[in-house]
Amino acid sequence: MTHLDAKALSLLPADMAAACERFPSALSACANLDALNRLKGTYTGRDGSFAAQLMESLKVAPKAKKRDLGAVINGLKKNWEEALKTRQTELETEKKQLDSTKNAWDATLPPPMPPAGALHPLNRLMDRLVDVFRPLGYHVEEGPEVETEEHNFDGLNIPEDHPARGTADTFYLAQHSELLLRTHTSPVQVRVLKRLAPELEARGGIRFLAPGRVYRKDEIDPTHSPMFHQVEGMLVGKGIGMHHLKGTLAYAMKALFGQNADVRFRPSYFPFVEPGCEMDVHCPLCGGSGCRVCKGSGWVEILGAGLIHPNVLRIAGIDPEIWSGFAFGMGVERTAMMVSQTPDLRLFFENDQRFLKAMGGLD
Ligand code: DAH
Repeated sequence: MTHLDAKALSLLPADMAAACERFPSALSACANLDALNRLKGTYTGRDGSFAAQLMESLKVAPKAKKRDLGAVINGLKKNWEEALKTRQTELETEKKQLDSTKNAWDATLPPPMPPAGALHPLNRLMDRLVDVFRPLGYHVEEGPEVETEEHNFDGLNIPEDHPARGTADTFYLAQHSELLLRTHTSPVQVRVLKRLAPELEARGGIRFLAPGRVYRKDEIDPTHSPMFHQVEGMLVGKGIGMHHLKGTLAYAMKALFGQNADVRFRPSYFPFVEPGCEMDVHCPLCGGSGCRVCKGSGWVEILGAGLIHPNVLRIAGIDPEIWSGFAFGMGVERTAMMVSQTPDLRLFFENDQRFLKAMGGLD
């Protein structure tokens, strides 16, 4: 009750009566807690407020009036305080609601971003290798993962009775026994040589890199998987010798592992090269003193290579009297394990996000 009856009003000084009349509209005009606090100060504050002035006027009121006036003032004060309290509760509730909706949707905050994907570490390594060879004039070639015996074996001078052709090592397709999952990226050599043979003279040679998946009947263990990756490389030109092969690979390994990278070549045998060799990298993990990755030898084999066998060129329709070249096939997982100090190859295929993140694969 904030309105006073006429009798009560007549007991108050004129300016106080007017203030009483104004209170209800002043109260409902308070749109927030700050405004309400100001009104509170004006009406019920300790010093100088209307309530304080009324108490002062009571002191000097004629004795006969005092009782009635006292009752009016007390009632008035109580009504103001109660009305102010009610309005305060209302405004506080409103503010809470406003704050909670503000927190729920703040247009100024950056939106939550879904985790971004990234290239797999093995793909990144293959891309890096391509980047190293591209400035040397190498382009990228691809071949199918389901291959013919002709490309996977025959065209590579691999004899009919070679053990790699057996079903113990190679996945043949059940319905098409002449089809198989390629056991290396070398069949891409056969395809590219055949395709580019007619334009060899015009091109002045061939240089390409062929990264991709290969398959072998290997049991899964820390260093074997029935599916893995290779990067094939090939150069065809005139007067190409082992020095070109060694110089190219030594340069590439420095670009990949750093200027201190050391390589060594050991003689080896592959039917599609003559002479053939394997290349080892000085173990970057232990610096050559011997560790688990290099099996104590200080060196890790990462690729097979050699000068292209004349039969491979001949089968593709290229005259080995005029043309020569080198080829190499690099194991990607083995190299990645070494670069990243990963002791178990299976980690590359499990796609555990913690591993990929640690490899810088997810940002
Ligand atoms: N294809 C061979 C393998 O998978 C690796 C290889 C060796 C590739 C010698 C070549 C090469 O191009 O010249 O073991």
